[in-house]
Amino acid sequence: MATKNSELSSSEIKISVKHLNVGFPLGEKQIIKDVSFDVKKGEINGFLGISGAGKTTIIRVLTCQIPKKNWEGEVTVAKISPEKKSNHRELLSKIGYVPQLENLNLYYDLTPMVNVEIFASNYGIDKDIAVKKAQDLLSILDVPEDTWYNKTRSLSGGEKKRLSFAIGMINDPDILFLDEPTTGVDAAKRYDVLSYLKKINRNTGTTMMIITHDLEAAHICDTVAILRAGKLLEYGDPKGLISSLPSQGQIARLTIEDLDRNKINKVRDFAPVKKVMRSGNEILEVFMEDFDINLSKLVEYCIHNDIKIISLSRDEATFRRYFQIRIKEEEEREQRFEQGGGH
Ligand SMILES: Nc1ncnc2c1ncn2[C@@H]1O[C@H](COP(=O)(O)OP(=O)(O)OP(=O)(O)O)[C@@H](O)[C@H]1O
Ligand SMILES: [Mg+2]
Repeated sequence: MATKNSELSSSEIKISVKHLNVGFPLGEKQIIKDVSFDVKKGEINGFLGISGAGKTTIIRVLTCQIPKKNWEGEVTVAKISPEKKSNHRELLSKIGYVPQLENLNLYYDLTPMVNVEIFASNYGIDKDIAVKKAQDLLSILDVPEDTWYNKTRSLSGGEKKRLSFAIGMINDPDILFLDEPTTGVDAAKRYDVLSYLKKINRNTGTTMMIITHDLEAAHICDTVAILRAGKLLEYGDPKGLISSLPSQGQIARLTIEDLDRNKINKVRDFAPVKKVMRSGNEILEVFMEDFDINLSKLVEYCIHNDIKIISLSRDEATFRRYFQIRIKEEEEREQRFEQGGGH
């Protein structure tokens, strides 16, 4: 029976990052600012953030791709530090790395099968075993068999990405780093990719660090990190983060006639209201303290203030909502700071 691995050996830390700073050059153009986190054995960790936040840069430090002169901090992967060049071979033998689509490191004029054989031979894996494994992985990943022996160049973006997955997993890595695993994969297949990753994780206990813009990926993650402008805003399990919202993330979703700024401000003025988010033209999502007690009071308050509610439903915040709220809060905090500093 597949057992949830983190319960077995939750104490073993596979990725440890303490006070990581990265800059080009270090200390001047700071890309990563004092980031610390741990990923435990068997966990799936998701690094989420908008473009340019620094996600790939962190993975590049962890996978020995950024020279030590550009970073500082205490970093270990499988208990090995990427700091010393002499450690790189051992560290890289324990990990798999699937780069971002635009950085796929493939031999485009060779076939997918030959690509897998080449990467396998780098790990000293016997050719016959590599071919068998490649066939298994490419089938599981739904890369059509008739493309295995064509030039890699002719594969679609999603197929190239899945070929890169197969290569990343060829050495049965202890830790798998995946940069944007669902980018270039069409919408219907996105969920397949995510559930496939979850399946590998369950069956093999492979620790994973996934970088993504795809907030749906939070569903398969044990821990998520929200990175913004090189800083770690949040780190924790997605459910725990959502339940840190007012009333554990319960939402009143109001459709309001002729919704405008004045009406939004009026709703915001109702004392128990903690957050208000506009969602679509006429829809307002309202977070309140003591939700159950205050929901009917909110309706009365709206009636009293000539705000016509067309419909009302209650809902619970998804991780997507949580993410949007946190990013917005941070932007507003920064704006206040800049305005304050300007005077
Ligand atoms: N070698 C480098 N020299 C200078 N700047 C760099 C270097 N590598 C990355 N950067 C800068 O660091 C910032 C973060 O880049 P990074 O690729 O880590 O972002 P990301 O979060 O992965 O973005 P995306 O989601 O678009 O992939 C960017 O502004 C980028 O231009
Ligand atoms: Mg990136």
